[in-house]
Formats: sequence, structure tokens, C-alpha cells
Amino acid sequence: MLNETASTSTTEPAFAVDNIHISDADLPEFRDMPFEDINELQLDHPGASDQEYRKRRDYIASLSKNFRETGVITDVDYNDEEQAIWRHVAGRLEEAHERRANKFYLTAKKDLGISNDRIPQLSEMNRRLNQLTNFRLAPIEGLVDTRAFLSWLSWRTMLSTQYIRHHSKPEYTPEPDIVHESIGHIPMFTNGDFADFSQFIGHGARVATDRQLDELGRLYWFTVEFGLIEEGDDVKAYGAGLLSSYGELEHAFGDEVERRPFDLEQVIAHDYTYSNMQPVLYVISSYAELKSATQKYIERIAK
Ligand SMILES: [Fe+2]
Repeated sequence: MLNETASTSTTEPAFAVDNIHISDADLPEFRDMPFEDINELQLDHPGASDQEYRKRRDYIASLSKNFRETGVITDVDYNDEEQAIWRHVAGRLEEAHERRANKFYLTAKKDLGISNDRIPQLSEMNRRLNQLTNFRLAPIEGLVDTRAFLSWLSWRTMLSTQYIRHHSKPEYTPEPDIVHESIGHIPMFTNGDFADFSQFIGHGARVATDRQLDELGRLYWFTVEFGLIEEGDDVKAYGAGLLSSYGELEHAFGDEVERRPFDLEQVIAHDYTYSNMQPVLYVISSYAELKSATQKYIERIAK
């Protein structure tokens, strides 16, 4: 997920848009991540008045924050209550995925060792992801502004939270959590075309004007978060906002949603709201199509 913090445009030295080979040596120093206004827990969060939950969330967030100094992902010793939330949500989502998730995702989730039994550690998923598509995970303690978040995709790195939602509302979270990251986002980065497409968005974010950054935010929203894909005569979900929420997932296939063929120009001009379920979604024909359309668009704005 993204938040809506406005950013100013940056001036970046030239870089090759088609460079998809990122080695560890190419990465900026994590300690230089310019995150000064990472969102704290919001008042409408179901755990906002639960002091024990807040303390625990702050503790796990502090482990994520340490990553910037050490470059090492710290495993979280999730407690029984956290594991129970995971088992409940992951189990329910798996039932929905059998009908609604795209084929690639279902295999990728298994391949990453994500099971309903326990919360997966970022360190394990990061190792496998790195082997498969040279993508990386970097722990983060909360939502960051759009440009900073998307720019890290340029280094084939996804910022990922580690804490879990509040037990009172296991089906809902107003902020990303380990369920949203690992059940929603992470499996799709094991797809080469999807990983490259994500990196193109990151390239774009590094050079975009503020107006272009809004366009990139919309592209991200209607693909990475709420994307649908053709599968034979069927349509399936690949967006993390759908795959990590059974309410959103069922809604996406209902009669009240208009499912349009993906058209990049239309998508980048399509305003959306965070609060309501989406009335319009876009269906790609393949990840290769998504990658190619995005590459052309990024080459245009990076000129
Ligand atoms: Fe997300």
C-alpha cells in the first residue's frame, strides 16, 4: 500500500532504464534511506487504544528499523496470539485463493514456503526471492511516502513491514502488515516479468515530476494492489490488495465491478479513493504485456 504524502520531484543522474541486473554492490546504503516521516499507528487502527498491542507493534517496528543500520533482517519471535491471527486469516484466504487467485501466484506461494501454519520470516522469503528473480526485501517500520517507497523498486527491493494486524479485526488492517506483505505482495515478485515491471515503476519514481508520480501511483494501485489477469476464459486476481483481503477479493468478481481490459493511458489517468471498494478494475492479458507497456511509458518519462 501507499500513502498519500506529497513529495517533491528529484533530479537523478542518468541511469539505464533497461538495467535489470542489480547486484548488492549497486544498492544505496540502507542507512541513507530518507525516511523522516514514516507513519505511526493511526487513530482509526483497531489496535489504537490497546496499549499492549501498541507496545508490541512498536517493538517489532524497532527491529525493522534496525535493518537500516545493520543491513541484516532480524527474525521476529512471533507470539501465540500473533500466530493464531495468521492461521485464521491465512486459512480463510487460502479458500478464496483456490477460486480467485492466478495460477502463478498459487505455485509461487508454495515455492516460497508460505504456509497457513506459521508466520513466514522475511529473511527466509528474501533468500528465495533473491535466488529466483534477484529481488530483495527490506524491513520497514511503517508507511513511507510514495516516491521513497516506489524508488526502492528501482533496486529490485521491496520495503516490507513485519508486525501483524490487531486480533479484534483479523479481516481488516488500515496499514500494511505481514499478512498483506507475504500473502499479498511477495509471491508475485518471483515472477520475472512482474519483477521487471515493478523495477520499471521504481525507475520512473526516481525521475518523475510530481504529476508523473501521481500517474505511477495509479499504475501501481490498479496493478500491484488491485490487478486482475486473464487466464484462459477466466479472470483471476494478482493484486496484493485483493489477495490479502477476502472482502476485496470477492467484491472484485461481483456484478457491481466493471472489469476493463488494461490500458496504460487510461489507468494512469484514473483517480481512485482509498476508502471505498473499487468500482472499476483493469485486466491484463499477461505479465509480459504489463512489463512491455510500462517499460515504454517509463522510457518516455525518463528522457
Ligand atoms: Fe500493498
